[in-house]
Amino acid sequence: MKTIAVVSTTGGAGRTTVAATLAVLLARRGRDVVAIDFDWQNMLGAWLGLDALAPRGIGEALCCTSDASSAWHEHTWRNDDGVLFVPHGQLTLDEAAACDARLAAHPQWLRHAIAQIALPASGVAVIDTPRYPSRQAQQAACAADLVLCVCPPDPAACATFVAHLPALLDACRDVRIVVNRLNPAREMQRDVLAMLRAAAGGLPVAQRIHMEAALPEAFARGAWLMDEAPHTQASHDLHGLAHHVDAWLPALEPSIAA
Ligand SMILES: Nc1ncnc2c1ncn2[C@@H]1O[C@H](COP(=O)(O)OP(=O)(O)OP(=O)(O)O)[C@@H](O)[C@H]1O
Ligand SMILES: [Mg+2]
Repeated sequence: MKTIAVVSTTGGAGRTTVAATLAVLLARRGRDVVAIDFDWQNMLGAWLGLDALAPRGIGEALCCTSDASSAWHEHTWRNDDGVLFVPHGQLTLDEAAACDARLAAHPQWLRHAIAQIALPASGVAVIDTPRYPSRQAQQAACAADLVLCVCPPDPAACATFVAHLPALLDACRDVRIVVNRLNPAREMQRDVLAMLRAAAGGLPVAQRIHMEAALPEAFARGAWLMDEAPHTQASHDLHGLAHHVDAWLPALEPSIAA
């Protein structure tokens, strides 16, 4: 099983969008997929089909040290596309502070939690994270075989990405960029993209995803852009990202013919 952390150095970059969509598109390609919400905003479930924010999940196991509460597996569920979903759960401010302290004391906590998931070699865990740097995002990057860094083509995202890239590469050697909300008509974006390319050196760009107003609208209706507007550029881009990751993953085991 491989682990992918979806991170970004600015808020609202599209991490949750990318994590949820990637999980679903990989599941539709026949992969065993676990999607883990490691962001205490607890929003990934909304993308994966929950009507309300999940009350319990991996966050509870993190903030409580008793063994009984480490059974976060009990709060997992499977969405319509077959993605096994691990919610974060709702936390109070005090509980969130306790989580931070636990992560500081146990830098491998998430890696050990992921090791409890039994998936075939061709399976994949996709982790949504809070903005980097944060303890959650750092643990996700350290536990990951691949970090997808979502970066909108704007100056703040570019500057913070450059500032944190050495630490990210320290955590995981395979960091790839996902440029999100691309609007080639905007000249400023072209300049920022050139800056990003220069700053990233030889880092691969896994995919460019275009700005698409129908994407948040589809989400609001509980639907996927790829289903509602399959011919939009952003829909093609999201499939392109899934293809990129699918090609990076170990080949699927051939299914046994009946
Ligand atoms: N390519 C895109 N085109 C248009 N809207 C997009 C695109 N990608 C993401 N969005 C929208 O941008 C908003 C922020 O996306 P998302 O919640 O995925 O970002 P995030 O990085 O997870 O944010 P947060 O820091 O709050 O966790 C959402 O409304 C989402 O629908
Ligand atoms: Mg998010």
